[in-house]
Amino acid sequence: MHQLSGKVAIVTGASSGIGYETARLFAREGAKVVVTARRQAELNALVADIERDGGEAIAVAGDIRDEHLARALVETAVGRYGGLDIAFNNAGTTGDTAPASDTSIGTWQSTLDTNLTSAFLGAKYQLPAMIKRGGGSIIFTSTVVGSTIGFPGMGAYAASKAGLIGLMQVIAVEYGVHGIRANALLPGGTDTPMGRATANTPEARAFVEGLHALKRLALPEEIARSALYLASDASSFTTGSSLRVDGGASVNRT
Ligand SMILES: NC(=O)c1ccc[n+]([C@@H]2O[C@H](COP(=O)([O-])OP(=O)(O)OC[C@H]3O[C@@H](n4cnc5c(N)ncnc54)[C@H](OP(=O)(O)O)[C@@H]3O)[C@@H](O)[C@H]2O)c1
Repeated sequence: MHQLSGKVAIVTGASSGIGYETARLFAREGAKVVVTARRQAELNALVADIERDGGEAIAVAGDIRDEHLARALVETAVGRYGGLDIAFNNAGTTGDTAPASDTSIGTWQSTLDTNLTSAFLGAKYQLPAMIKRGGGSIIFTSTVVGSTIGFPGMGAYAASKAGLIGLMQVIAVEYGVHGIRANALLPGGTDTPMGRATANTPEARAFVEGLHALKRLALPEEIARSALYLASDASSFTTGSSLRVDGGASVNRT
């Protein structure tokens, strides 16, 4: 039995890494998926992969900071597939990293726009569509940085990702009465283009791996499986929660 049969999902940040693998997994579990990111060619490859697996997906390329895209994604889910049940608001950037006093307002603003304001805009259009379905699951990709870990140079990133947890908690209490669950996913270091850019030398990678109790990075497929848990009825009484999928990085002192 597929876990997402009959469901319709939006996955943002789907051209790469965690979003790519999550879109594939959601589709394998029976969801029809609207995928988005800026890079059209990568989205086309994803849709082809999903169709080869026997699934259904449609790509809508655009910049996640654009309110028109937020509306278009929901319109596509409703127009093409009849409604919206699941939203994985996952697109993100580390932005330019620097100590707080060396961070420009431009870097600060663009990092918050991409990671936090985009998720607010997504939710603004996703929630009314989920209400029409009688419920849904909305998931935000946060991180342990800004929640349990202070990582030097990542002030704007940490603030944006901590902000997602606040937004998620308020949405959980505002929309629970409509059967909508809201949760945050907090990955640890994950072997994606973003993760590899942070751990970009053998020494840096060994250092980042060592921060985790499991002494390795996650595969994006492992984060995708936790996104599936939050999307599916397996987590039917879970809302307002922050799910750490961090290989023990938050508790590790070894
Ligand atoms: N990798 C890690 O170690 C790690 C750890 C904790 C949390 N996370 C979070 O997990 C999420 C996914 O990251 P990842 O590791 O899978 O990184 P990734 O492979 O670099 O993927 C980032 C995704 O976000 C999209 N994106 C970025 N800026 C965008 C914009 N302005 N408009 C539209 N799409 C945009 C990218 O698509 P385009 O470039 O095609 O637009 C891409 O699909 C992020 O929110 C990240 O903060 C990652």
